[in-house]
Amino acid sequence: MTDRYAVVGNPIAHSKSPEIHAAFARQTGQDIGYSKLLAPLDGFRSTLESFRAAGGKGVNVTVPFKLEAFDLADEVSQRAKDAEAANYLRFDNGRIHADNTDGVGLTRDIVHNLGFRLAGKRVLLLGAGGAAQGVLTPLLEYEPSILTIANRTVEKALRLAETFRHKPVAASSVLCGLRFGELAGHHFDLVINATSTSLQEELPPLPADAFAAGALAYDMMYGATPSPFLAFAAAHGAKTSDGLGMLVEQAAESFLLWRGVRPETAPVIALLRNA
Ligand code: ATR
Repeated sequence: MTDRYAVVGNPIAHSKSPEIHAAFARQTGQDIGYSKLLAPLDGFRSTLESFRAAGGKGVNVTVPFKLEAFDLADEVSQRAKDAEAANYLRFDNGRIHADNTDGVGLTRDIVHNLGFRLAGKRVLLLGAGGAAQGVLTPLLEYEPSILTIANRTVEKALRLAETFRHKPVAASSVLCGLRFGELAGHHFDLVINATSTSLQEELPPLPADAFAAGALAYDMMYGATPSPFLAFAAAHGAKTSDGLGMLVEQAAESFLLWRGVRPETAPVIALLRNA
């Protein structure tokens, strides 16, 4: 019988996850079904329970339910604990296992697909919400020399930096939290936009000299046209990437955890790019 999976969110119509997992299934010869589930804002748990009762094996979780998914799991991976959020659930013998594959999706895209070596690099993370918190542990695992978190509400950046500074994964990196206005005179090899500014077609208030020579600017959002952040970065000499590769890589990591097979991501990224 075909094993069934789904992505749960609200809204969900725009999700590319079914297309991505269908491509992985074809490529690896795995017999799975993968659908979209729209959960009412107050009905995440009941949507999940119905899917599980109907034989569902697991789900990916997207906005705005990642925190709720984390809270209701019976077992939680370390990276989901660090993120305080889960985008992956597996139903197993009546228990719910949670993980977070977003951060590793980001670092695999940066390191494997874009060929950018993170070790020893100066990294600037813009934003201190859920998206930023979700990628901190996987970034720190690559031992950047500096990881600076800049946020409009500086208290949130300071709190994240303080929380992560004490984790063993941060042993090789200097972590600090700043407000945007304090970035002047600092230069970075990698600048990651984890704010929601690209959704609003806005530019985070970055100084132009934030990009060191040869820097990479990475936007965790993706779209048909470059975001204001990526356009700004390109205008100031940085290489750029949107977050489409991250989306495919977090899906590949989920597929691996469910099915025990790691799919090739390059052809699937190309497929989505050309669509
Ligand atoms: P997500 O789960 O996507 O991270 P979030 O937790 O609401 O969503 O966080 C949104 C992030 O984008 C925050 O870091 C937010 O800054 P504040 O903490 O100051 O709210 C940031 N953000 C949103 N709009 C922004 C803007 N116009 N300029 C700068 N930062 C912005």
